[in-house]
Amino acid sequence: MPRIRVSVLASGRGSNLQAILDAVRDGKLDAEMACVFSDKKDAAALIRAEKEGVAAVHLSPKEYPNRESYDAAIVQILNEHRTDLVALAGFMRIITPTLITPFKNRIMNIHPSLLPAFPGLHAQRQALQHGAKLSGATVHFVDEKVDHGPIILQAGVPVLEADTEETLSARILVQEHRIYPQAIQWFAEGRLRVEGRRVIVREEGR
Ligand code: GRF
Repeated sequence: MPRIRVSVLASGRGSNLQAILDAVRDGKLDAEMACVFSDKKDAAALIRAEKEGVAAVHLSPKEYPNRESYDAAIVQILNEHRTDLVALAGFMRIITPTLITPFKNRIMNIHPSLLPAFPGLHAQRQALQHGAKLSGATVHFVDEKVDHGPIILQAGVPVLEADTEETLSARILVQEHRIYPQAIQWFAEGRLRVEGRRVIVREEGR
């Protein structure tokens, strides 16, 4: 079976990227890395990619007149690296249809809440402030609205009385690192079908 080629877009720490790199290296995914892209020159994610021998690309948004031209440059890079699937992993930019349309249903994102609860920034802080008893992580396909597209996979964690933003984030992150590679593997196996807002996951081997 030909392996799919995955590109990861990340702005920061890159722990989800690392979970994907580890899974690819350990042969747990029917996927190979295409490239890692960052809008931040100093992103730890770029260093993680280089350590793994994966192409690491940075473009500064400041060099582009608007979001669309920047996203067009990203599309070119993704295509140069023959990207099948794009995984957003802490990519702190709103992407436009210029990038979304050519990769329709081929861009995933991970968000640290059980969407549609607590979209946007500081999802863990939002969950604490709201008094939620349960939160978690969501992998979803990206559409034109932020943290909105069809949900592929979710994992819940309890919110404990003593939790701080840091402790809740750490508990959620463990689940993020588990479910993101899983969602990518399902995609690689061709098991995901999008029907409206729903993602149908075909049973293994059928
Ligand atoms: C994660 O919490 C992810 O859910 C959110 O941004 C954070 C990125 O962390 N979208 P990392 O860079 O993958 O460590």
